[in-house]
Amino acid sequence: MLLKSCCIYSVGVFSLLFLITGISLVLSNVFPHFVQSMVEKEIVLKNGSEAFEAWENPPAPIYMQFYFFNVTNPLEVLDGERPAVVEIGPYTYREYRPMEQVNFLDNGTKVSAVNTKTYIFQRNMSRGPESDLIRTVNIPAMTVMEKFKDESFVASLISSYMKSTDEGLFTTRTVGELLWGYEDSLLKALQTVKPELDDVFGLFYKNNASNDGDYVFFTGQQNYKDFARVDTWNGKSSLNWWSSDECNMINGTNGASFHPVITKNETLYMFSSDLCRSLYALYEEDVTVKGIPGYRFVPPSEVFANLTVNPSNAGFCVPPGNCLGSGLLNVSPCKQGAPIIMSPPHFYQADERFAQDVFGMKPNKEQHETTIDINPLTGFLLRAAKRMQVNVYVEKIPTFSQTGNVRTVVFPVVYLNESVVIDDASVGKLQVITVEKNVVGNIPFMLIGLGIVLGGVFMFLMCRQKVPESTAAERQPLLSS
Ligand SMILES: *[C@@H]1O[C@H](CO)[C@@H](O)[C@H](O)[C@H]1NC(C)=O
Ligand SMILES: *[C@@H]1O[C@H](CO)[C@@H](O)[C@H](O)[C@H]1NC(C)=O
Ligand SMILES: *[C@@H]1O[C@H](CO)[C@@H](O)[C@H](O)[C@H]1NC(C)=O
Ligand SMILES: *[C@@H]1O[C@H](CO)[C@@H](O)[C@H](O)[C@H]1NC(C)=O
Ligand SMILES: *[C@@H]1O[C@H](CO)[C@@H](O)[C@H](O)[C@H]1NC(C)=O
Ligand SMILES: *[C@@H]1O[C@H](CO)[C@@H](O)[C@H](O)[C@H]1NC(C)=O
Ligand SMILES: *[C@@H]1O[C@H](CO)[C@@H](O)[C@H](O)[C@H]1NC(C)=O
Repeated sequence: MLLKSCCIYSVGVFSLLFLITGISLVLSNVFPHFVQSMVEKEIVLKNGSEAFEAWENPPAPIYMQFYFFNVTNPLEVLDGERPAVVEIGPYTYREYRPMEQVNFLDNGTKVSAVNTKTYIFQRNMSRGPESDLIRTVNIPAMTVMEKFKDESFVASLISSYMKSTDEGLFTTRTVGELLWGYEDSLLKALQTVKPELDDVFGLFYKNNASNDGDYVFFTGQQNYKDFARVDTWNGKSSLNWWSSDECNMINGTNGASFHPVITKNETLYMFSSDLCRSLYALYEEDVTVKGIPGYRFVPPSEVFANLTVNPSNAGFCVPPGNCLGSGLLNVSPCKQGAPIIMSPPHFYQADERFAQDVFGMKPNKEQHETTIDINPLTGFLLRAAKRMQVNVYVEKIPTFSQTGNVRTVVFPVVYLNESVVIDDASVGKLQVITVEKNVVGNIPFMLIGLGIVLGGVFMFLMCRQKVPESTAAERQPLLSS
């Protein structure tokens, strides 16, 4: 009898203990913090860690896709009509980008490396072979004409040379030539006067199997939020390198580095040496990638906004004070004065007039915005698409009859989509982490549940113990009679 009630009271005590522990764990938030710090400890670049291996050799395949704009009315454009273009693509390359020459610095808080990129053509993911022909603006000619437009004597020499070789405002080249380089006869001729000039032109010339300079990254050892963030690029701080004229413009899209984000209020910084600066992105919506929950971040329109809206874009007004309007970044100082202007594809999010100026532009959020999807718990990159368009600034230059009566227009040449989707092995790892997190995170609630169940058992037993006493008291007289 004594043993029995002892058991019953123990049940009561345990029930109370579980309830108190569970509730205080929930209130103190210890477990979520514990899980978080477990995850944060994994997010650091150190020799041998999984994060380091994924950073050094990204496991998921990265694809670079190009969409060209084929000009359909070159003669009419020279007569002052609106250009008409047809989008042609994709031409897809698999991009390999291992980190090389990796060296840890400053007690493991930083790591230096170069990011070598190699592009391998994927015929089965492309619209046609690299030998497909594209008619587009003759960028070397446009650059040379812009450069010498105010020196009438040199200009007339160049102009008559161009007539003799039948070069004009437009050129027809293969996809491979436009991207990876071709010998340009005008540049070659100029080389006899200016030997330091390169006679090869290509949008991604010298970018294959090469790197764009020395990076120093934070390892995340001091703060996991700095994980793989660019500290310096070619010795310059990542914050204001657009002001330098050494920046590389179309030398590859690169160095997007993501730091883990946990909240929707976070700002995501991406380094982009082809824009000669870092960009940032803000939370837009929840997404699911291969069953894994993620937050989608997109660059807000202010990133490309005009000066009135975003004064920090002053670095893109070249020459100073000469600004183009929302949605465009003039990166000519990065490319030896070539009048190259970057924008989102189809002038998405840019001033409407740019899309209206060219027949064939159909800006569309889903296809043309840059997106980055991140798993909030781990900061793992789930999916990303970096989309950007290369344009040439075209205008009538009176000293060059080659420009005819062309309108002043920001002429689209090609846009690219550099994208990646998390690989299945990483999805597996993420699922394990997520399950662990859910189990560990729910321990306090399990304790409370257990407390409630035991409490119920305790009450039931208490009542049962009392009931027999009273019934026994009633029965006794019956038995004795
Ligand atoms: C990482 O460790 C391996 C083996 O211990 C060593 O060979 C390698 O050089 C180290 N890498 C770096 C970047 O320190
Ligand atoms: C490097 O780390 C060690 C051990 O963590 C510490 O004792 C030392 O002071 C650190 N050195 C520097 C330069 O931070
Ligand atoms: C890039 O370089 C690699 C190796 O050097 C080569 O196999 C590949 O075909 C090149 N890609 C292009 C687009 O030229
Ligand atoms: C682009 O236009 C040119 C000129 O009309 C044409 O020869 C070429 O075949 C077109 N390119 C493609 C891939 O359709
Ligand atoms: C980028 O390309 C230019 C030539 O177009 C070249 O001079 C420069 O060295 C390249 N930069 C890097 C880092 O590859
Ligand atoms: C800058 O952009 C804003 C919003 O798009 C617009 O109202 C303003 O007129 C623009 N300013 C200039 C100078 O283009
Ligand atoms: C890249 O973006 C384009 C549109 O901008 C889209 O058609 C294409 O499917 C995207 N590629 C990948 C691999 O997501």
